[in-house]
Amino acid sequence: MNKNSYKDGPDKEGNFGIFGGKYVPETLMPLITDLENEYEQAKKDKKFLDEIQFFARNYVGRESPLYFAERLTDLTGGAKIYFKRDELNHTGSHKINNCLGQILLAKRMNKYRIIAETGAGQHGVAVATVCARFDLECIIYMGNKDIERQKSNVFKIKLLGGNVIPVHSGRGTLKDAMNEALRDWVANVKDTYYLIGTVAGPHPYPSMVRDFQSIIGREAKEQILEKEGRLPDILVACVGGGSNALGLFYPFLDDDVEMFGVEAAGLGLDGEEHAASLSKGLPGILHGNRTYLLQDKEGQIKEGHSISAGLDYPGIGPEHSWLKEQERVKYVSATDNEALEAFELCSRYEGIIPALEPSHALSFAIRIAKKLDKKKIIIMNMCGRGDKDVETVSKIMGIEAS
Ligand SMILES: Cc1ncc(COP(=O)(O)O)c(C=O)c1O
Repeated sequence: MNKNSYKDGPDKEGNFGIFGGKYVPETLMPLITDLENEYEQAKKDKKFLDEIQFFARNYVGRESPLYFAERLTDLTGGAKIYFKRDELNHTGSHKINNCLGQILLAKRMNKYRIIAETGAGQHGVAVATVCARFDLECIIYMGNKDIERQKSNVFKIKLLGGNVIPVHSGRGTLKDAMNEALRDWVANVKDTYYLIGTVAGPHPYPSMVRDFQSIIGREAKEQILEKEGRLPDILVACVGGGSNALGLFYPFLDDDVEMFGVEAAGLGLDGEEHAASLSKGLPGILHGNRTYLLQDKEGQIKEGHSISAGLDYPGIGPEHSWLKEQERVKYVSATDNEALEAFELCSRYEGIIPALEPSHALSFAIRIAKKLDKKKIIIMNMCGRGDKDVETVSKIMGIEAS
């Protein structure tokens, strides 16, 4: 990779340094190669890019605003906090950016059976939405624990015509759902397209999902230049698998901008109940790529914990592992309680109910803004809205929802 740019990865084999790659069973190799070739063609095809742009504008509602969170900024007394408002997208999160790109690719490849995994259900809803719009069969694997804590999204997926398959193995969360989806793909190679929801999985998924999500950072860059006449000092985003974070960070990687990925510290990094794979994990192989993972001494994958269903993945996209080792992005964390506090503050002070995932990023943004001069500028990715989480939070706060 060109040492002068952080944007050149992955190499031809799908590696970001020692991370990434395509560790898949032999039966999947031809599919991965097909996908890689098709994507290479598609990303140079003006018709394909125009189609994405058309639907991004008219269906998803892009561009999303860059909003100055004035009251929260006043509260911290420090740096200016801007929100990139991807929670305003159709279906309520950034996940639709990637689904739109991949569904158009699946159509190009004449695949009509779409499978996907989901944790928080936001990716599941986004997949079911594009499947409804483009008239494709939709099968969503979801852990039983996530089904329980994200009921409204399960209902939405079904309403949109998706088939939700509960996964009872492991802790019944995202990792287990991804295992099942990969099994399905191996068994149904001919007609099936696996629509991965984050920058993980075997090559070409990590870089392809990053490309589809980079619209977030490209827009944010133009918007901040228009509003402030300069680039921000700091970018902050939560990291589950890492797609919203890379979407924001990627267009700024070669600029003089500091970046923080915020992992879920759950009940605290001292114990076992967290999902901080970069802060506490070690490199290993999971779901087709080499990356930082939460694992025990024998290399068995440990279960992640977070109050937010979208952040409890015990791995992380390989490009993040590489960016960590390059010391280009810093990875920090916020606990369940800190995220809850930010969730409440944002609701009260900005009239925006955030999803629990970006509440982690917001907690860190507030923490760092307090220490910085008022002239500094932070952009935080508000990557999802909190509708899906109000039931969970109302139970914790002891406030009756009805
Ligand atoms: C709103 C929201 N934010 C963040 C995430 C984490 O995913 P990623 O790290 O790929 O952005 C999820 C995952 O489900 C989500 O629903």
